Parts: sequence; structure tokens; C-alpha cells
Amino acid sequence: MVDLLLTCPPGLEDVVELEAMERVPYARISKRPLGVKGHLLLSISDPEQVSSVLSMRSIHHVMRYVTSFRIGRGRDALNTIYREVAALDLDGVLNAGTRFRVTSARLGRHEFTSMDVQRAAGQALVDRFSSKVDLEHYDVEVRVDVVGEQCIVGIALTRESLHRRGYRAFHHRAALKPSIAYAMLRLAEPREGNILVDPMCGSGTIPIEAALSMRMLNLELYGMDVNGVYIDGARADAERAGVGDRIRFMQYDCRMLDSMITPDRIVTNPPYGIRMEPGIGIRRLYTGFARAAYRAMVGGGRLVVITLKHGMMRDILSSVGFAVSRDVPVMHGDLWTHILVGEKR
Ligand SMILES: C[S@@+](CC[C@H](N)C(=O)[O-])C[C@H]1O[C@@H](n2cnc3c(N)ncnc32)[C@H](O)[C@@H]1O
Repeated sequence: MVDLLLTCPPGLEDVVELEAMERVPYARISKRPLGVKGHLLLSISDPEQVSSVLSMRSIHHVMRYVTSFRIGRGRDALNTIYREVAALDLDGVLNAGTRFRVTSARLGRHEFTSMDVQRAAGQALVDRFSSKVDLEHYDVEVRVDVVGEQCIVGIALTRESLHRRGYRAFHHRAALKPSIAYAMLRLAEPREGNILVDPMCGSGTIPIEAALSMRMLNLELYGMDVNGVYIDGARADAERAGVGDRIRFMQYDCRMLDSMITPDRIVTNPPYGIRMEPGIGIRRLYTGFARAAYRAMVGGGRLVVITLKHGMMRDILSSVGFAVSRDVPVMHGDLWTHILVGEKR
């Protein structure tokens, strides 16, 4: 048995479980082991299955699970981390002279930073194994994650986060993480031949992920944005991803969506309203979009939307006629956003 720890945006554990069950059918899966958000423990019997895990689209990092232990939230926790890490059995992984680095993701309130965690664990490994810290040219990366009062240690099998897809060259300042785009698409559950549109597509993350991950469904894919610069960038990224011919991009205002197409699925990431251009009210935009979306789905369908202003969006969706069937809190960057699913029957 190999125990793998998978990380994902906190809140997306259900989607990761779904994807893992498809990719590694006989794996034993534990979501939020020890209550730790954004982590899953996957026990696989065949080490060859690691490559299937590494091709998953909903996860960020994969590590070989080493241990976990409880810590406090005060600075004393750093002594516990030093003690526990210094006692690890890592023979064969770390030796005298192995170049290593420690990375840490921290979630919750603590009287220490992730840098403090890295320093405490790094010192423990130097003292115990006489290994050398090398932040750039390392042979082994040790992950020491702290979530609330739990500390989880693993050996990283991924260097770059898997959400960094190679096709992204265009920079959109509010781009969505492709792992979250993938999760939204899974929640949309498109059917064979459906018309799926992202009417505020920015750099095209959602339609590009749909083209890459749902190839078998022969979806008719559209990406729209009011800003032509984004549409050009999205088109270029789609070309780079090898799906340029599978998505129709156009510059359009989402509030007139119903005059353009009749989608079965709408999956979108509207502006969160933090950096909105002055003069454009977020409520007005959300209302105009929701009305047009409802009218456009002439045969019924499903809308999946991610936003920070979930209370406002939920009220607006209900008021125009959608039945909100799911509300999934998801951490995007350092913000707790919500994915809402609206049904038009
Ligand atoms: C949060 S960004 C989307 C980012 C995108 N998901 C990505 O990964 O690049 C929101 C987008 O909504 C677009 N937008 C704002 N108002 C719009 C409108 N009325 N019609 C269409 N697009 C609009 C903005 O131009 C912006 O690109």
C-alpha cells in the first residue's frame, strides 16, 4: 500500500473524491483526514497508479504521506514540530548530504507563520539527518502543512502545483484556478452534445478546461467577455492548449446572452466586485446576467457560478426563477468564495 496525500482548494474535496474514484478505481479514499480541509488521503495498492493520480485536474499537490500530529496554535507548536520531525523515520529518503527544502501551507489562526514552520522543520532535519537545505536545487521536498491544530508531513511528488497548466500565457488579473474551473464543470454535469457557455470568460479558463477534460461529450463550447483584449488572450491560450478549434470566443455583453445562444449549461466566474470599475454596480451586473441567463436557457438547464457575494447572487438567482440546488464554499486564493448551482426546470 502507498499512502498519498492530495491537496486541493479547501471545499473541493467532494469533486476530488469523484475524480479519484474514476482515475484510481480501487483506491481507498479519506476526505479531510483528521478533519484537515483541502487534503485527501488516498491509499493505492499499485505504485504504478501514482501517474494516474498525477494527471488529476482537481488537485494541486501530491505527496507521500509520512505522519500527522496535533499541535497548538501558539508558538509552542514550533517546538512540537521540531521534536516530531526530528523523530521521523526518513532513512532512504534523507541522508547526510541530501539537498532538501521544506515547504508549508498553513490554514487557520496561529501565532506563527508558515516560514516559522519551515524553519523549525528544516532545522530538525538538518540536526537529525545532516541533510543540507537548498531552496532551489533540492533533491527532496518535505511538506509540513498546518491546518488548524493538525500538522501533516509528507514527501512531495509534485514540484509545481498541478493547477499551473502549461497553456496559460495570457495574464488576466482575476483568472480562476483551473482546478476550480474543472470542479465547477463537474458540478454542471453537462450531457453529450450540450451547449455550454461561459459568458464572462476572461482568459477562457472554464471553456478551455471543458474542452480538455470533457472531450468525449462533444460539447458546443462558447466563451464570451465584454472586453476584447481578454477574448484575444483567451483565443491564444486555447490555441496553445490545442483546443482553439473547439471553442467559439466572442466579445459580448452577458446581459444580452439570450439574444445570442440557447445554452444548456452556463458556467461562469463573474467579477467578485472587489476591483469593479467605478460606476458599474455589481448588483446591476449580477441581476442583468441572471435575467439573461434564465431567458437564454429555453429548454431548461443548469447554471454554475462562483462568487464572493454569494448571499446577493443567491437572492438574485432565486428572484429571476432559478432553484438554487447547491452552495459549495471554496477557498480561492485566500478568499472564501461560494460555488452556487442554479436549476431552470
Ligand atoms: C473574474 S473575471 C473572469 C476570469 C476568468 N474566469 C479567467 O479565468 O480568466 C470576470 C470577467 O467578467 C467580465 N465582464 C464584466 N462585465 C461583463 C459583462 N457585462 N459582460 C461580459 N463580461 C463581463 C470581465 O471583463 C472579466 O474578464
